[in-house]
Formats: sequence, structure tokens, C-alpha cells
Amino acid sequence: MRSIVVANQKGGCAKTTTIVNLAASLAELGQKVLVIDLDPQANATQWLGGSGPEDGSYRLLVEDGPVKDLWGPTSAENIKIIGASQQLSSVERALAGRVAIDSILKRRLATLQPQHWDFVLIDTPPTLGLVTLNALSYAKELLIPVTTHVLTLSGVAQLMATVETVKSLLNPELEILGFLPSRVDQRTRHSKEVLDLLIEEFGPLVLHSKIRESIRLAESPSYQEAILTYDESSGAAADYRALSKEILAKKVKKGIKS
Ligand SMILES: Nc1ncnc2c1ncn2[C@@H]1O[C@H](COP(=O)(O)OP(=O)(O)OP(=O)(O)O)[C@@H](O)[C@H]1O
Ligand SMILES: [Mg+2]
Repeated sequence: MRSIVVANQKGGCAKTTTIVNLAASLAELGQKVLVIDLDPQANATQWLGGSGPEDGSYRLLVEDGPVKDLWGPTSAENIKIIGASQQLSSVERALAGRVAIDSILKRRLATLQPQHWDFVLIDTPPTLGLVTLNALSYAKELLIPVTTHVLTLSGVAQLMATVETVKSLLNPELEILGFLPSRVDQRTRHSKEVLDLLIEEFGPLVLHSKIRESIRLAESPSYQEAILTYDESSGAAADYRALSKEILAKKVKKGIKS
């Protein structure tokens, strides 16, 4: 079982788009995927047509009942979701005064049975607050979407500093799976410049897969469909299929099965 958190505190940098379409393309390859939506905006939950128990991810962090009672079905057979709701925005208040609150998710998900899941994918909000820290403290791999239609590298240094702190204090196993260039428009000079800058800064950490700018992809959440079914022969669908294959082939470190 691999665990991947998608994070970048920059808002609108394609985190949720990555989660939903990566989940769908892994599921298409027969992988069993558990998505955990840790963003109170609940965009991933809505997009995937999640219809599980109410306030799933809030209850995951605040209550101690069995985790298996918290996930529910989505519109894709191989994808289950622990869904988010607005309630999640009050989680810090609900946890005030408790101890070791950075690693609640890690303790809670230790009960997941690894043979039941190939991937746990976690969507995070656009902040580096308690909820994102919990995700970073649990997951073994971090995927960082970066959009290239605007320069979005400004917050990345802060994210990298947080990753180093989390690795030394809470989760030594955390590795960067890679940066995922998204909304790439090869026709514009700006998109190419941002991509070049990313490769200059992070070299081999930049994934080979890139997600192109796609109107069809931007439309697909309104239909509660991943791009793979909304427009299965589109370029963006091909991009996510290539991404899932690259991730399956990539061994971030010894011990992670490919
Ligand atoms: N490849 C793409 N082509 C066109 N539009 C895209 C692409 N990827 C993402 N978008 C659009 O960019 C916007 C932001 O994407 P998304 O919601 O995935 O970002 P996010 O990082 O999850 O945002 P937030 O920080 O608010 O959670 C959405 O309107 C989405 O449709
Ligand atoms: Mg989002």
C-alpha cells in the first residue's frame, strides 16, 4: 500500500484536479484507491461523487470510531472516499488542548489493512496548517502540483522547509515523489520559462509527465466525472494515464512497491 499526499499551499495549483484524475487513472489500471479529502472546500468529494458518511474526514481526525465506518463509494468502482465537509474547518478548535495532534492521522490510519488498498491519496487545503501537517506526518510520498501558466514557485521554498521539519520530527519516511507540471501550455513562452525554472531548481524531482492546459478538464468537475470518462480520448486524459504509469513505475525508495 502506497500513501501519497498532494500538497502545495498555493491555492488553485491543481491539487484536487491531480487527486481526482490520478485516482481515476490508477483505478482504471485495476488499483484499489482510498481518497481522503482533507479540504473543507470538499471539491474532491463532490467531483468524485462521494456519498459516504457525513463529515468523514472531520470524524477521522476528531473521533476514535472505526476508520472503516468513514469511507463510502464514489462514482468509480475501485475508488472509495473519506469525504470532507465544511465541518472540517473547525477541526483545530475541536482538537484544542489535546496532545500530539500533528500525528492523529498517522495513528488513525495505522489500522488500515494494507492488503485492501493499493493507494491512499490525500487531498489537502491551500494552507500549511494542522490538517496538512497531519497528512505530511502520515504519508510516505509527497506529490507537488505546480501550474506553469502563472509563476507559482514562490511558496515552494516554504513547503520544502516544512517537509524537512516534518521529516526530522514526525515522519522520517516522507519522500518527495515529484513535482507535477500542470496547466502546461507549450505554445506560450511563459509556460516554457516556468517549466525550465522548475527543472533548473529541482532537476530529477520534476516528473516526466506533464498535464496540459485543457478546457475539457476544467469542465469535467461540473459533470462529476474524471477526464478519463468525461472525454476519454482527450490529451488531458492521456496525460493522467501517463502520470499513473510513471508513478506505478517509480520507486521513491526501497520498500515502496511499484
Ligand atoms: N490542466 C488544466 N487545464 C485547465 N484548467 C485546469 C487544469 N488543472 C486545473 N485546472 C483548473 O484550475 C482551477 C484550480 O484547480 P484545482 O481546484 O485542482 O486546484 P487546487 O490546488 O485544488 O485549489 P485549492 O487550493 O483551492 O484547493 C480549477 O478551476 C481547475 O478546473
Ligand atoms: Mg483543492
